[in-house]
Amino acid sequence: MKKKILLGLSGSVACSKAELFVKQNSEKYEFKLLSTYSGLNYLSEQFIKSNTIYSDWSELTGSPHIELARWADEIIIYPASANLISKISFGIADDLLTSTLLMFSKPIYICPAMHEEMYMNSQIQSNVLNLSKNHYIVGPRHGNLDIGDKGLGRLIEPDELLRILNKLNGKIIVTSGPTYEEIDDVKVITNKSSGKQGRALAVELSARGYEIVYIHAASIDPIPGLNNVSFHSSNDLKNKILENIKSTEAIFMTAAVSDFTVNKSSGKISRSNGNISIEFEPNEDIIATIKSSHPEIKCIAFSAQVNDELSFNKINSKKVDYLVINNILKNKFGSDTNKVSIIDQQHLIFESEELDKNEISRDILNTLEY
Ligand SMILES: Cc1cc2nc3c(=O)[nH]c(=O)nc-3n(C[C@H](O)[C@H](O)[C@H](O)COP(=O)(O)O)c2cc1C
Repeated sequence: MKKKILLGLSGSVACSKAELFVKQNSEKYEFKLLSTYSGLNYLSEQFIKSNTIYSDWSELTGSPHIELARWADEIIIYPASANLISKISFGIADDLLTSTLLMFSKPIYICPAMHEEMYMNSQIQSNVLNLSKNHYIVGPRHGNLDIGDKGLGRLIEPDELLRILNKLNGKIIVTSGPTYEEIDDVKVITNKSSGKQGRALAVELSARGYEIVYIHAASIDPIPGLNNVSFHSSNDLKNKILENIKSTEAIFMTAAVSDFTVNKSSGKISRSNGNISIEFEPNEDIIATIKSSHPEIKCIAFSAQVNDELSFNKINSKKVDYLVINNILKNKFGSDTNKVSIIDQQHLIFESEELDKNEISRDILNTLEY
């Protein structure tokens, strides 16, 4: 029997992708279409003519919100506007679609589509984060937006949605941001990593249908919709990876781990002590340790270097699968752009242009076939 999908549509130019999704998958799924009033403005005349699209209560009899919710195996909101996301987050039921959603007791798939500024608006971020506790937030991805802009907010593509529904893709850990090694209860040593490249990779992998555990420095923002785990020190980072490692297919070790650890003093070392010496000890190579104990997991290490050397010695000592190298003298920490080389244990396999970190993520994932 075909799976019954109730496809929710809302007021976004990206509704054309929903048309495509329905056309491409009508053999595979039984669809019912339910649009907000505004969503109808973004569907083609041809699509409206050739499909039944529920929207207005007055055209229906009985209690369609109950019937539609009970009919559906899955509900997918594709595309989900900022307005609809907020209404769902607050439990508002002022039209047929939102009333039907309140009648449905399973998690729903919510695929945001909007301009980056709208998506990054603090209220929308908070609503998406809230919804992610009970529902699947899928995307948005980085890419082309309305009026020729580019950014984070693009609706995932129909083939990506299909992969997600078929749960074809596995679990991946992405680590991101700097570690903090405590000198005493007040002071730390850290580094200038912004976490932007790791964030971009996590967003892109999630849009491609992978289940992401985003292990990020406590000082940088989580990503709404993903399984977010925060860390402080490098030891904490290692423990968080190990706690989440079960069934992991790959680890993208984008976090900038301190090269050294410090023997922590308790309290606060006072200036009145005069000159002090702090002893640094070389840190464990976390990704090398993890690869040696979990050889089945694909490990992708990142090397921030002050030159363009293809560090085959490094990848061979770590024994990881791939090393992504960037030169931080050319693309400084915190910059929105990056330029990377990817090596395996023998060869240079990819060299990028200098590009936006979101585009670099796409290049890395295409090269490594994710
Ligand atoms: C041309 C155009 C494109 C729009 N695209 C989007 C969009 O992609 N995402 C979004 O959240 N709002 C978009 N809006 C604004 C929504 O349509 C508007 O907030 C509307 O009230 C949403 O209603 P709904 O959530 O009930 O569908 C767009 C508006 C216009 C005029």
